[in-house]
Amino acid sequence: MKFASSTSTSVRALTFLSLSTVSVLSQDSTTSNITSDSYFYGQSPLVPPAALPSGTTSSWASAYSKAADFVSQLSQEEKSNLTFGVRATTSGCVGFIPPIERLGFKGLCMQDAGNGVRLADGVNAYDSGLHVGATWNKNLAYQRALHMGAEFKAKGVNIALGPVVGPIGRIAEGGRNWEGISNDPYLCGALAAETVRGIQENGVVTSTKHFIGNEQELNRNPSTNNQSQHVEAVSSNIDDKTLHELYLWPFQDAVHAGSGNIMCSYNRINNSYGCQNSKLQNGILKDELGFQGFVVSDWGALHAGYAAAEAGLDMVMPNGGNFWGKNLTTAIDNGTMEASVLDNMATRIIATWYQFGQDSDDYPSPGVGLPRSLTTQHVFVDAKVPSSKKVLLDSAIEGHVLVKNTNGSLGLPLQKPKLVSVFGYDAATPNKNPSSEGPPDRLSQILNRTMIVGGGSGVNNPAYISSPLEALNQRAYEDGSQLLWDIANVNSTAQVDAASDACLVFLNAWASEGYDRSGVHDDYSDALVNNIADQCNNTIVVIDNAGVRLVDVFIDHPNVTALIFAHLPGQDSGRAVVSLLYGESNPSGKLPYSVPKNESEFGALLSPTPPEGQYWLFPQDDFAEGVYIDYRAFDANNITPRYEFGFGLSYTTFDYSSLEFNKVDGPSTDKYPVGEVIEGGQGDLWDVLFQVSASVFNSGNVDGAEVAQLYVGIPGGPVRQLRGFSKVDVEPGKSVNLNFDLTRRDLSIWDVVAQKWQLQKGDYKVYVGGSSRNLPLEGSLTI
Ligand code: NOJ
Repeated sequence: MKFASSTSTSVRALTFLSLSTVSVLSQDSTTSNITSDSYFYGQSPLVPPAALPSGTTSSWASAYSKAADFVSQLSQEEKSNLTFGVRATTSGCVGFIPPIERLGFKGLCMQDAGNGVRLADGVNAYDSGLHVGATWNKNLAYQRALHMGAEFKAKGVNIALGPVVGPIGRIAEGGRNWEGISNDPYLCGALAAETVRGIQENGVVTSTKHFIGNEQELNRNPSTNNQSQHVEAVSSNIDDKTLHELYLWPFQDAVHAGSGNIMCSYNRINNSYGCQNSKLQNGILKDELGFQGFVVSDWGALHAGYAAAEAGLDMVMPNGGNFWGKNLTTAIDNGTMEASVLDNMATRIIATWYQFGQDSDDYPSPGVGLPRSLTTQHVFVDAKVPSSKKVLLDSAIEGHVLVKNTNGSLGLPLQKPKLVSVFGYDAATPNKNPSSEGPPDRLSQILNRTMIVGGGSGVNNPAYISSPLEALNQRAYEDGSQLLWDIANVNSTAQVDAASDACLVFLNAWASEGYDRSGVHDDYSDALVNNIADQCNNTIVVIDNAGVRLVDVFIDHPNVTALIFAHLPGQDSGRAVVSLLYGESNPSGKLPYSVPKNESEFGALLSPTPPEGQYWLFPQDDFAEGVYIDYRAFDANNITPRYEFGFGLSYTTFDYSSLEFNKVDGPSTDKYPVGEVIEGGQGDLWDVLFQVSASVFNSGNVDGAEVAQLYVGIPGGPVRQLRGFSKVDVEPGKSVNLNFDLTRRDLSIWDVVAQKWQLQKGDYKVYVGGSSRNLPLEGSLTI
């Protein structure tokens, strides 16, 4: 196992997440046959149960006072029944807490998924998290969530199991990166916050997940190896600074936005399981971030009894398992656990229910629109609202990212083509509903055809699917052109009509919960592109990609004239891509991750860490790179990616000018924040210290939207980090002003000794432009 030494281990050792401790242990020659995980204990220290939110001034005060009254009327058994799921007998809720009828509590229904209501009919399939990231559009993220949330409510869901902000995307082949938004914490956090606000506006609670360090699917859960030995889940070993500046950041935004629920993760963190890690749940989430809601376990993620309750877990799903259930009351009866621990858990759960107005008679009964099984007789509850149509299509369009385009008569947008030829397994409508979770082999993804979403619990049933081939057929009908297609040739033998004006090749890069990807490109699809490009001088490639997809095997082929990363657009996929191909919409998405040229450029972050050597029963994964993932790593290592973070082309061009800074009068620029803890942490972390403005000019011929990005070089940190973005529509020949607020938090680093965010004294470099490597405006501000 590779325990990299850290430059600041002496400082880090003062804090709880000390990689240095691990390093020392790894040098101990007596550790070669570790048979007990007690060997690892001590790295994630014990933090006593967090006090209940007292905040009489907080917006939760009334909910807590009502909850205290409610809980005071419960027996110990009734309190305990609030803390573990039971099988829903009349609905299809994946998590269910039974009612307490005499007090008007109708129970709680929890349901996936991140892209819409799962295991249901009468719902829409929205674009997935990564696609939202590629839109860089806060307002659209909010609208998407608002509409999706209305569907959750209509179906009787109390807690929607999303958004995903972990994985953040540390490992390129991570199977669930597509459920998350971006591997940049600022972008991820900003759009997650909008998602939380939008869904919760309906009174539906969001479960922001998976807390924390859930960066690979391999060994995400305990398993049995081929020698019948018990193997623990992987331990994500994360130091305190990295935790705060990278992995916790988007959770902090979600808590600040009011997320009422957090789901703890399957993996271990510093050798303590996520759902029984008291430092993280009590210490960081509840104390430091002032989280007011309750923590639920991921499904089957509980591996301890009352200790997990003391460590801050409030509810276990999908049932009590061997650990909770009636055992919590036994633990109180025999004096092992304080009664107040259970009181606090029940109070947090009921306070959340009150806080979101779910006690109201107007809130639909839990699971009312979710049949136990879709194949048995049930009432069809149509949860879709008419205004979702525009949101679905706009979201699908804006998450497409155009990264290559040959100017002139070739490439995009198509110039009234008379003959269009279509290739690739990803073009046609699936044979089966995409919610069926197939095995992760190439064949099933090929047979499954166009990919609007990845696999696993983050998938739902679309109301319909507009596939690229269907939408192109419709176009040919409307404009009287000719469409030819060969999607049957799933190898590289397809032949091209030589009179084709354009050849469109549709590919995908599939990923699913439960498996990490076997690579970030595949030979089969690359060969298909090269074969078509050899025959067609205007080959346009579209990839539905559930994560980063390398393209260097074909991208320099002179006949590949355009490339779109289409991500996971949801049910309007075909309609969206056709509108972009024909220039009715102008591409405005930008990459929420970097695309390097070769796998080797990811270094150790290409593939998940397998159990290794002396640690093989206790798999260890050291996050030794710190905050240096994605563009931070490429910048630090002088690697020029094929397409950098934040990059995306438009059918027009933009020029930047007029960078200005304004120091805001009032807020202190002392080293540390002094504010009371509100939801998300100390309140003055959100004080705006500087306002930055600039101007963007549309220098082309068509309307377009530009994502202007602001990066800051914090003294002592990575050369630049995203700290602002703004998506603006600009007409040709016109300029639009851009405004960015820089908060205390945006300009701070985590001080592991003080355990506070610390402003740095000195000069901060500030850059504004269209991508992380195209930053025409540069200046600096001083603190
Ligand atoms: C396990 C997944 O990790 C989680 O994201 C999901 O919400 C639950 N299963 C419930 O389906």
